[in-house]
Amino acid sequence: IKKIGVFTSGGDAPGMNAAIRAVVRSALYYNLEVAGIRRGYEGMISGDIFNMDRKSVANIIQRGGTILKTARSDQFRTPEGRKKAYEQLKKNNIGALVAIGGDGTFTGARVFGQEYDMPVLGLPGTIDNDLAGTDFTIGYDTAINTVVDAVDKIRDTAESHDRLFIVEVMGRDCGLIALRTGIAAGAEAILIPESKTDLNALYERLEKGRKDKSSKIVMVAESGEAGNAFEIGRQIKERYPQYDTRISILGHIQRGGRPSCMDRVLASRIGVAAVEALIAGRRNEMVGIISNEIAFTPFEHAIKHNIEINDNFLKILEILSL
Ligand code: F6P
Repeated sequence: IKKIGVFTSGGDAPGMNAAIRAVVRSALYYNLEVAGIRRGYEGMISGDIFNMDRKSVANIIQRGGTILKTARSDQFRTPEGRKKAYEQLKKNNIGALVAIGGDGTFTGARVFGQEYDMPVLGLPGTIDNDLAGTDFTIGYDTAINTVVDAVDKIRDTAESHDRLFIVEVMGRDCGLIALRTGIAAGAEAILIPESKTDLNALYERLEKGRKDKSSKIVMVAESGEAGNAFEIGRQIKERYPQYDTRISILGHIQRGGRPSCMDRVLASRIGVAAVEALIAGRRNEMVGIISNEIAFTPFEHAIKHNIEINDNFLKILEILSL
């Protein structure tokens, strides 16, 4: 390998810039050239590719978003799109890739790696933390801190008005953002897709705690099986018209902002590890950290969606929230 290409793809996540910086600087450290590819697979197909040096990644470790921009690409799902992408990589003398993204990114990388002789390693970059093969994904820590900060603010006003708030957070079909932030913000209940929602149990729980608490927060993951925040809110209102209920959907503020220290360090560690692993001949794997050790997981296992939820977390909530 003489030249590595790096790109970000799918939803952005705080810490992606720190990952780009780590890939660029470690490639240069090991005397490799490095090229940035803009807008993920879209830029690979159209040839939006440029050489990067130390300066191209100066002063970005602390910035949210991604300087390489990002996109979700329909074209790359087609064999013709992937052929064009391969031709552009060859034209730019790129001999290996580092893909920073989530499961859509790695699904594409996996197919591409099977069709063409192009080593690809992936760095998990998504606020959802929904990949197997790493304890945490880049962006998750920042996102959960953003959520906790927002819910603390909601709690102030909820407490003043004796209100119940349904707070909906992101995570696509994974409840890990709701789960941790619910515990950290002292939520009265957490509704996540991985665990069955018993609305009657929820009503009882809310009623039970009513004498002791004047405000209540119900954290809802965006894809909960009992419906979104509006649906849950409607049902609670129907059951308890006397509750002063409000709904708050946190939305894309969860994706922005300065990456936390944990996300910057994670991105830096696995960014360097990815370059070293490409040099050592690894391919078609995601680089993560498990129990503080660098871990490599084949793409097809990383993108498995059945992330295990630690039941203990829900038990902790049950014990602490009444
Ligand atoms: O995967 C990150 C994520 O923010 C999910 O939590 C959410 O479901 C989705 O992306 C939103 O995507 P978009 O920014 O395209 O609306």
